[in-house]
Amino acid sequence: MLFKRSPNGMDLPYPSEITPREVYEGRRQFIARIAATAAVGSGIWEMANREAFAQGTKLAAVRNAALSTQEAQTSFKDATSYNNFYEFGLDKDDPARNAHTLRTRPWTVTIEGEVKKPVTLDIDRILKLAPLEERVYRLRCVEGWSMVIPWVGYSLSHLLKQVEPTGNAKFVEFTTLADNRQMPGLRSPVLDWPYVEGLRMDEAMHPLTLLGLGMYGQVLPNQNGAPVRLVVPWKYGFKSAKSIVRIRLLSRQPRTAWNESAPNEYGFYSNVNPNVDHPRWSQASERRIGEDGFFKPKRKTLMFNGYEQVASLYGGMDLKKFF
Ligand code: MTE
Repeated sequence: MLFKRSPNGMDLPYPSEITPREVYEGRRQFIARIAATAAVGSGIWEMANREAFAQGTKLAAVRNAALSTQEAQTSFKDATSYNNFYEFGLDKDDPARNAHTLRTRPWTVTIEGEVKKPVTLDIDRILKLAPLEERVYRLRCVEGWSMVIPWVGYSLSHLLKQVEPTGNAKFVEFTTLADNRQMPGLRSPVLDWPYVEGLRMDEAMHPLTLLGLGMYGQVLPNQNGAPVRLVVPWKYGFKSAKSIVRIRLLSRQPRTAWNESAPNEYGFYSNVNPNVDHPRWSQASERRIGEDGFFKPKRKTLMFNGYEQVASLYGGMDLKKFF
């Protein structure tokens, strides 16, 4: 597989180095910064601002009980130390060890393509775009393990409606950060970077599809995809792209990183389906992280990971063919 360095242009200087500050911080914040700098004449304001977004910052949210599972939650420790985030290494404990180099402020997400109102939004604007909800979702990884995580965020549809999709918008493409100064894993040609994922438009607009901004009542830990990721609970975990920088609405199905690397193993749809085995292993059961032990039986994997309300999206489709 050809290893391109940063085809999305992230070889360019970090956005803060090429975008005027007024644009990415918002004019009011910019003026406040000038005033504060003038007032104290030192970097104190800057420090305070950085502190406000430190890892562990609390994120208040109201539980959406209707969309939350009652199952026991995975511990915060397990959810933040057993991760897949190949940009920070291939081993499960690599992201927790390496992702401290990820700079999550300033951060913008560009939304463009088949839309009437393309926009580049600052992450702090995105955080305030809709009321934050806590949703406890099951996450089933294609590798055969699962977790139960209390996410914080809101339905992706709130964000997409802002840009007014045109009638041609049939798919949504999510591109994630690929900056080799922050992400040591990009040196590995395991994927054709950047990590790109995609959904059909109706999947993206489904209320279950979450724009994830936090978990366990706080901002996303870097290793879990800070500052903004996708959470699509009825699909294998790799569809839930981390650290998103661009969302493009398209008339055609986008290429996706995993599908491109091994099309016979990772289909575009990637719905959790116990009846369609991965070519190299069964998908009929799963190990719940934290439930280890010799006598603990594996759990049966459920169709759509138990989220049956999405079944109607696939009416008439052969889900063995469109895996
Ligand atoms: N997003 C990016 N950018 N890079 C990745 O390597 N891994 C995916 C997904 N999103 C991945 C990614 C996979 S395989 C899984 S299972 C989930 O993130 C894991 O999310 P978690 O570590 O928060 O449990």
